[in-house]
Amino acid sequence: MRDITIRPVTTDEYPAFVTAFMEGFSSDLQAEDQPEHFRHTLPPERTLAAFEGESIVGTFGGFDLTLTVPGGTVKMEGTTVVTVFPTHRRMGLLNAMMTEHLDNAVANGFPVAGLWASESGIYGRHGYGVATYAVSRSMDGPLVDFREDIQVDRVRRITSDQAKEVLPAVFDAVCRDTPGMFARDDLWWAHETLLDEDWMKRGRTSKRIVVHDGPDGPDGYVMYRQKGSEADDGHANGEVVVIELIAATPVAKASLWSYVTSIDGCPKVKFWNVAVDDDVMMMVREPRRIGATILYDALWIRVLDVERALTSRTYEEDGTVEFGIVDSYRPATDGSYRLVVTGGVGTCERTDSTAVLDLDVDVLGALYLGGGDARAYGEAGRIRGPKADIDRMQRMFRTISAPWCDQVF
Ligand SMILES: CC(C)(COP(=O)(O)OP(=O)(O)OC[C@H]1O[C@@H](n2cnc3c(N)ncnc32)[C@H](O)[C@@H]1OP(=O)(O)O)[C@@H](O)C(=O)NCCC(=O)NCCS
Repeated sequence: MRDITIRPVTTDEYPAFVTAFMEGFSSDLQAEDQPEHFRHTLPPERTLAAFEGESIVGTFGGFDLTLTVPGGTVKMEGTTVVTVFPTHRRMGLLNAMMTEHLDNAVANGFPVAGLWASESGIYGRHGYGVATYAVSRSMDGPLVDFREDIQVDRVRRITSDQAKEVLPAVFDAVCRDTPGMFARDDLWWAHETLLDEDWMKRGRTSKRIVVHDGPDGPDGYVMYRQKGSEADDGHANGEVVVIELIAATPVAKASLWSYVTSIDGCPKVKFWNVAVDDDVMMMVREPRRIGATILYDALWIRVLDVERALTSRTYEEDGTVEFGIVDSYRPATDGSYRLVVTGGVGTCERTDSTAVLDLDVDVLGALYLGGGDARAYGEAGRIRGPKADIDRMQRMFRTISAPWCDQVF
């Protein structure tokens, strides 16, 4: 390898760091103040850069996130801005930065790390497994018709200043109950979710925000952008692109979906991130009109501390499962474990005994939030051992609702 040093960037180097990862993602720096916004959620001390001399040739970052898991929360190292310059690819820089990043995460007490992958072939080797999936849907809004027995209320438009006051409480209530979502602090709201600079619009409007009011106050909101256009015959043919729709109740869900699918002049509606088991499918007359376009892997989880991670979540069924983890990337995690669940609460510890089941650490990450299908992993040979034990693992780990991660980071 050439003479490369890996270290966090300084405050002075931070603008160059942001410019470097924007370039790594095939983009330019979008505005002078873009680094300033990133710095609030990803401070210089949470970065890693690969330096060749004074030039940054690779970037990495870690967000401090609190992830909802079944029955609780866990601290998650949010792996982000992973890039290596094309001139330095396939020299091992990603691996070198990942090793340091995960070592730091363990030293800082994170039981898991998580990421969204730009390409799904990269991170399995580092022990990340697909813990949540999502569906990208696009539809002809006026054809989405809610059943007569579904309550659909009028909703209320608010300004972004009002949104600062209203949205966090609605979001927190849903986040607390949804494994796969992660908590937001004021900085995240200001410099990520509600940020609305011209460079973010890509030819569309500013963010529009609409809330649903339930009996006890706001209980759902949708944030979206619009783009007007005309069809060849002159009819308005604009689009609505939903950024996020958060609903704490079925009425809020139906009302907000109904609103975005019936905006005059904007029949084309796109939701990029709908939960795989979203109940809106059961609320409409013709589910096919909601049109699934792509099912994709969303949040990937990398378990770093098996005992703490598994003790931090609850389980659907009591029982004992003994399993061996194969972790070729971080052998420290390798070994045999016993998980005992009583009253839904788990205790996990290392054992000296030979494990009944064997699985790679990325498969444990896939099962962790309750979405992974142990039975299917068994049939694919990714969990090895007696079928009865794999089925028990399935019944213990799999949750009634699918986990869902609402935001890319
Ligand atoms: C993805 C990227 C960071 C890889 O960096 P790199 O320094 O070339 O990777 P390394 O040389 O350290 O390779 C590490 C391993 O990953 C593999 N790998 C690297 N890029 C890969 C890809 N795009 N798909 C599948 N495998 C990949 C390598 O073959 C190597 O495998 P091995 O350890 O089994 O031999 C780099 O190509 C990049 O910046 N891409 C554009 C930005 C991007 O997509 N980033 C990911 C954001 S989530």
